[in-house]
Amino acid sequence: MNPTLSIAIKAARRAGGIINRASRDVELIKVSAKRDKDFVTEVDKAAEVAIIGVLKEAYPQHAILAEESGASGDSEYVWIIDPLDGTTNFIHGVPQYAISIALAHKGILTHAVVYDPTRNELFTAVKGGGAHLNDRRIRVSKRIRLNEVIVGTGFPFRYFEHVDAYMGMLRDFMHKTAGVRRPGAAALDLAWVAAGRFDGFWELGLSPWDMAAGALLITEAGGLVGDLSGENNYLETGNIIGGNPKVFVQLLQIIAPHLNAQLKA
Ligand code: IPD
Ligand code: CA
Ligand code: CA
Repeated sequence: MNPTLSIAIKAARRAGGIINRASRDVELIKVSAKRDKDFVTEVDKAAEVAIIGVLKEAYPQHAILAEESGASGDSEYVWIIDPLDGTTNFIHGVPQYAISIALAHKGILTHAVVYDPTRNELFTAVKGGGAHLNDRRIRVSKRIRLNEVIVGTGFPFRYFEHVDAYMGMLRDFMHKTAGVRRPGAAALDLAWVAAGRFDGFWELGLSPWDMAAGALLITEAGGLVGDLSGENNYLETGNIIGGNPKVFVQLLQIIAPHLNAQLKA
């Protein structure tokens, strides 16, 4: 086992233990809002502290970019962490959320872990080494025809400047695909594309910690990820498309007519 990946797995499992214990009584969890409809709990924070503790013990020199505590350190190596992706689901007792941890070296994603603690599903990838779910190798789906594919997404819920463009995309996906799903945890949605459960995914306005691990999982599973123009700038723009290679190209074509100047950038 790749030693850096084992550290990331240890960190994710430790956070998973904290999240699973807290999920037994969600009524007791203290929730605060960072902004309108942007919730954080003491569990998000405790999970992040645990993850960073494990990573820093092994790699004290590495930098961190974590959702709750922000950026720290200065290194070619940056850990990109979402301690609990899908907090709104978690608060409601909806069992669809995950821990997302990725490592980037000089801006290139090299290691990824997305851990679903409710199903005990551990999605992992190392650059050049393929993607795995628990001990099994995973690959993106082979579906080609749009009327057979399922596409995951995230609905806008906080910022609505691109909602008209988004609704146009959604309408076309509803017409052309076998179905659109909005489970509520982007990192897990991307992992599900890697595992071939979803054939594609798109969402606007995400943060690097929502996407980094899931993106490497998809490429290591034989899929493609990109921004709305198919370029590689999704971590900067926050807008991402992923899928098996055949579906990826078709998603780009469906999205293209809906892009305004800002979304094309
Ligand atoms: C959210 C989830 C959700 C996506 C949001 C994210 P959080 O992450 O990934 O699916 O639609 O844009 O902010 O806040 O639960 O970590
Ligand atoms: Ca998130
Ligand atoms: Ca989060």
